[in-house]
Amino acid sequence: MAEKEKVANRYDRWASFYDSVDTFPIVGRPQEKWKNKAIDALDLSGEERVLDIGTGTGRILPKISQHLNEGEVIGIDISEGMLKRSRERIKNKEIHEQASAKYDDILDSKFPDNHFDSIIATFTFTTLPNPRKAVEECARILKKEGSMIVLDTGRPENSYGKPLFYPMMISAKIFGRTHMDRDIEQILENEFEVERINSHMVGMVYTLKCKIKK
Ligand SMILES: C[S@@+](CC[C@H](N)C(=O)[O-])C[C@H]1O[C@@H](n2cnc3c(N)ncnc32)[C@H](O)[C@@H]1O
Repeated sequence: MAEKEKVANRYDRWASFYDSVDTFPIVGRPQEKWKNKAIDALDLSGEERVLDIGTGTGRILPKISQHLNEGEVIGIDISEGMLKRSRERIKNKEIHEQASAKYDDILDSKFPDNHFDSIIATFTFTTLPNPRKAVEECARILKKEGSMIVLDTGRPENSYGKPLFYPMMISAKIFGRTHMDRDIEQILENEFEVERINSHMVGMVYTLKCKIKK
């Protein structure tokens, strides 16, 4: 089975309990804080077309919608199970005028060139089979003056974080197929000017602001 199907099947299986794990207080509270900061960093004026890559159950779509007037936010994913949850959320929160959830693979996106004003990806790049290809696609579909916010996990900034990093990295790899040992910042630098705007847990969680290289 191709890697894409494996990833989609895995998230299909997790879709029904993903939110309960994600909102479990010890995990959920800091995550919510980090995600709110990432949304603030989009610096939306209200008219933008925003893309949320690997939207999952669409937890950030209502928050982004609150910042939009004429604009729209599209959450994409390759897991139909996760998209179903996302669409239920859009319906329950009555935000269908600003938000939608669509099937799209960020490794081979169907969106045209220069289409989005802003892109956001929360904890997605470390789960993608080919993050380099995803970065190329992001640079293609983002408008040249647009910006992308990436919230994700990685190696600690100093040795104090190491005792925590290795058990977390190994369990994330085994149970979540999440690659915390990837240098997402370096991969993004192939196409973008990258600025680290937030750092949490000795840098093991970070927010990057990315602008297309001139
Ligand atoms: C760890 S979850 C993050 C979900 C959400 N962004 C959050 O912060 O809770 C990663 C998501 O990326 C999706 N995904 C994986 N590969 C993808 C791809 N090639 N294109 C689009 N989405 C993908 C998965 O199906 C999953 O829903």
